[in-house]
Amino acid sequence: MKFFIDTADLAQIKEANDLGILDGVTTNPSLMAKVGISGEAAVTKHYIDICNIVDGDISAEVVSTDFDGIIAEGKKLAALHKNIVVKVPMIKEGVKAIKWFTDNGIRTNCTLIFSAGQAILAAKAGATYISPFIGRIDDTGWDGIELIHQIRQIYSIQGFKSEILAASIRNPNHIIKCAEAGADVCTCPLESILGLLKHPLTDIGLAKFLEDAKKFA
Ligand code: E4P
Repeated sequence: MKFFIDTADLAQIKEANDLGILDGVTTNPSLMAKVGISGEAAVTKHYIDICNIVDGDISAEVVSTDFDGIIAEGKKLAALHKNIVVKVPMIKEGVKAIKWFTDNGIRTNCTLIFSAGQAILAAKAGATYISPFIGRIDDTGWDGIELIHQIRQIYSIQGFKSEILAASIRNPNHIIKCAEAGADVCTCPLESILGLLKHPLTDIGLAKFLEDAKKFA
């Protein structure tokens, strides 16, 4: 399973990249706003800054909702860097645009996936990645991980090639469950990635080893 970081915060992106386990980055307009980036020029510069930190796929989201607008925006984004993947919402115009991008060699990430039916449509259109939002599904009382299982099964039976990019991750256990369910990618906040490191027995064990090591110093 590939690890992406789900943030527009350059310091966090650098920290995750320095771990040596980072395969890419996802952003969205809310994450950009959170770090104070707004306006086309600033957003464009920020994508280039991210591409200069991480050698992996970087999702850049369009904000148009009509076919022509999505195509124009996506072409501009894709031209910024070879690693840019155009993030397109799961709407009718978005599906049409994903098919156009697929036919024209531009890679896509279909975002805002909340059902198996949406995942089938995005795969039919040729999306490189599809992003089911696990945490937001859990927030509504449904089971986000169950959706990953269902999409994995459908894609395996049908031979769909889109990569399942589990998004809206809220905690380290989500990452483990996504790996079990066969997600191809998990995009996570830094604290969920770092949360995987932690176990109290590791801390207790290390303290004891270091204490005993002093006896032989
Ligand atoms: C990533 O592609 C998504 O935009 C993101 O994971 C959404 O996460 P949230 O539900 O925490 O906003």
